[in-house]
Amino acid sequence: MGRVEGKVALITGAARGQGRSHAVRLAEEGADIIAVDACVDVATNGYPLATPDDLAETAHRVEKTGRRVIARQADVRDAAALRELVAGAVSELGGLHIVVANAGIAPLGPGPVQAFADVVDINLGGTVNTVHAALPYLEAGASVIATGSVAAFLPNTTDTNAGGPGGAGYGLAKRMVAQYINDLAVQLAPQSIRANAVHPANCNTDMLQSDPMYRMFRPDLDQPTREDAEPAFHAMQAMPIPYVEPLDVSNAVLFLASDESRYVTGLQLRVDAGAVVKVQPWKQ
Ligand SMILES: NC(=O)c1ccc[n+]([C@@H]2O[C@H](COP(=O)([O-])OP(=O)(O)OC[C@H]3O[C@@H](n4cnc5c(N)ncnc54)[C@H](O)[C@@H]3O)[C@@H](O)[C@H]2O)c1
Repeated sequence: MGRVEGKVALITGAARGQGRSHAVRLAEEGADIIAVDACVDVATNGYPLATPDDLAETAHRVEKTGRRVIARQADVRDAAALRELVAGAVSELGGLHIVVANAGIAPLGPGPVQAFADVVDINLGGTVNTVHAALPYLEAGASVIATGSVAAFLPNTTDTNAGGPGGAGYGLAKRMVAQYINDLAVQLAPQSIRANAVHPANCNTDMLQSDPMYRMFRPDLDQPTREDAEPAFHAMQAMPIPYVEPLDVSNAVLFLASDESRYVTGLQLRVDAGAVVKVQPWKQ
C-alpha cells in the first residue's frame, strides 16, 4: 500500500519545480493527480514561468508511476475556470482528497506597483481560489496544504527596498497564506478536514535560479550569475546548504497529505534548514 493510495490530489503550479515534484511524489505513493498550471508568463515577473511542454512532462512522469493524471492549463487567478476544471476532473477521477495550493511568482526588484498586485493576486488570491474551488468536494479525512515561505516569518526577506513592490507583495501574500490556513483549519476541523502550510527556505527551482533572485542575494554586483549567488544563498539557512531541494518539500507535503498526520492541522511546517530558528527567538 502506498501512503496516499486511492486518493486524488489537486496540485497547482504543477508544471515544474516544487509542484511537479509534489505530483510525482504523491503519485509514487498511490495518488491520482490533477495537475494545474497557467503556463504563461506574467509581465511584471522578471523570469519566465512554466510552458505547456513542462506541464506535459509532469503528466508523463506521473503516468510513469502507473497513476492517472489530468493536466490542465488554468490561471489560479481565474476562480471560475478553477471551479469548472475541478468539477470535471473530480467527476472523471471519482473524488478529491488532497489539495496542494502551490502556484506562485516572485516579481522581485524595482518595478511598477502592478508587481505588488500581481503577486498578491497569484500567491494569496490564487491559493484562496484553489482551496475554495475544492471545498465542495472535500470530505472527512481530506487534507489541504498551502505553500508559504519563510518570508511569512522573517520580515526583510523579500520585503526590503531591493525587493520593491513585488517583494513587499510577496511577503504580505505569504504572511496572509499562513494566517488563512490557520483560520481555515479551525473552520474545517469539525468536519475532520485538515489544513496545513509548508514553508520552504531557498528551494532549488527556477524561481530561485533566476536573475531577480541573484540580484537580491548579490546587490553588490550589476549582473550576478548563479556562480555569484550560490555562496550567498547559504546566508538564509542555519544548516550549511544553499537551498533545500523540491523533494525535501514534497516529503513534508506527502506526510501532511497522508493519514499519518490525521490529527495534524493548523501547522506551519517549515522546511527551512533552520532559517527561522536561526534568527527568531522562541516564543510561546
Ligand atoms: N523557490 C524558492 O526558493 C521558494 C521558497 C519559498 C517558497 N516558495 C514557493 O513555492 C511555490 C512553488 O514555487 P517554485 O519554487 O516551485 O517555483 P517555480 O517558478 O518553478 O514554480 C511555480 C509554478 O507556478 C506556476 N504559476 C505561476 N503563476 C501561476 C498562475 N497564475 N496560475 C497557475 N500557475 C501559476 C508557474 O508556471 C510555475 O510552474 C511558490 O508558491 C513559491 O512562492 C519558493
